Amino acid sequence: MTAALLDEFKDAMATLAGGVCVVTALDADGTPRGYAATSVTSVSMRPPLLLVCQAKSSSSYEVFARCSRFGVNVLAAEQVELAALFATPGADRFGGTGFEPGEHGTLLHPGALAGIECRRRDTVDAGDHGLLLGEVCAARTCPGDPLVYHGRCYQRVRPV
Ligand SMILES: Cc1cc2nc3c(=O)[nH]c(=O)nc-3n(C[C@H](O)[C@H](O)[C@H](O)COP(=O)(O)O)c2cc1C
Repeated sequence: MTAALLDEFKDAMATLAGGVCVVTALDADGTPRGYAATSVTSVSMRPPLLLVCQAKSSSSYEVFARCSRFGVNVLAAEQVELAALFATPGADRFGGTGFEPGEHGTLLHPGALAGIECRRRDTVDAGDHGLLLGEVCAARTCPGDPLVYHGRCYQRVRPV
């Protein structure tokens, strides 16, 4: 892979709009961990499976690679500060941010458009990332507008 191809790949992926999520899990001591993510994809309906991709360089990579449960919070447009916090290395991401325990051992935010609880089924090695495959245990939704990341900026969706 040349540096030019890497830049072209990054530029191409920046054209792909993604809903912004916060992915959460508890570490072995029960300490909450989480990070902002756009690489969240539904995989299967029967059984209900989704995957999230996490960089191996993330400080919480080993926690997610081994967790038994993880949560996916689909953020609302009003939650842009929460997204930025969960992408800031070293920040206190859970102090006063309002995450609450879900029914299946994950952490969900009451202001999120969707809260999806998963049992981790597998972690698949994929280059400098890991693919976390989760089986959905529960999913809830709230009305609202999504927070979108496109062109390296946070955006709202507009009707066409
Ligand atoms: C909009 C947005 C989307 C992101 N999506 C992902 C992602 O899908 N996977 C990932 O590993 N990191 C993603 N990141 C980066 C992580 O949120 C961030 O690098 C990480 O939380 C850094 O801190 P940490 O090493 O303590 O986790 C994204 C960041 C932003 C701002």
